[in-house]
Amino acid sequence: MKSIREMDAPIGLAFFFGPAVIIGIIMLISGFNTVSATMVLVLVLFALKYMHTSIVGKYKIMQSIVNNIHLKKDSKILDAGCGHGAFMLQFNKQAASINEIIGIDIWSNKDQGSNSIEATQKIIDSSNLANKAKLKTADILDMPFNDNEFDLIISSLVLHNIKPFEKRKEALVNIARVQKQKGQLVIMDIGYETSKYVRILKDLEYQNVNIMNAGYNGWWGTLWCQLL
Ligand SMILES: C[S@@+](CC[C@H](N)C(=O)[O-])C[C@H]1O[C@@H](n2cnc3c(N)ncnc32)[C@H](O)[C@@H]1O
Repeated sequence: MKSIREMDAPIGLAFFFGPAVIIGIIMLISGFNTVSATMVLVLVLFALKYMHTSIVGKYKIMQSIVNNIHLKKDSKILDAGCGHGAFMLQFNKQAASINEIIGIDIWSNKDQGSNSIEATQKIIDSSNLANKAKLKTADILDMPFNDNEFDLIISSLVLHNIKPFEKRKEALVNIARVQKQKGQLVIMDIGYETSKYVRILKDLEYQNVNIMNAGYNGWWGTLWCQLL
């Protein structure tokens, strides 16, 4: 199976490498000093960890999440903000239980490198979910689906890209609308607003909302929610 392991938010690297280069140039002009050299080293280590989480760590987290999901027969799944399909394609070993898996996205290249429906379609076509997976260009804030359509909704590293906070709240309301009453929801995202998301989901009558810490592989943190 093909896959594109492009960086999430590639611009993020500039926040580490930019200052590292500037401090390096200052050192070249004014001479070596331990404090500046330590700063450069720390910034480069942060950049390497950012890259590791984006192209290795997040896949390990997704795999461990998917291994813990029990799909009921003929499940209909939505990957909200699928990008290259990294999360939806983790279900390739559970194809027999899947009726349909739909990935939607607005294909922003700021949020993910080489992001397009054509690129993701090629990846899907070479996977064993090819006859069950479909892609659509659609905004989470305006999804072309009926109420109560999906048994399982997954979304990884998407919510934080929707700005401002009121829109993120609206995104969760939209997700709840298309989710079946006894469905499951998994949101994996940067952890800084986890407690707010939990409150919103509880207000939306989700039950058994659990938070899972992603550990070293997910510097960004995760939120795992399940409706039973
Ligand atoms: C960091 S990427 C993550 C992609 C994929 N879920 C993954 O984990 O590899 C964020 C994705 O969210 C998409 N996105 C951002 N805002 C969106 C919105 N309002 N509706 C649908 N997709 C959105 C972007 O286009 C991008 O593909």
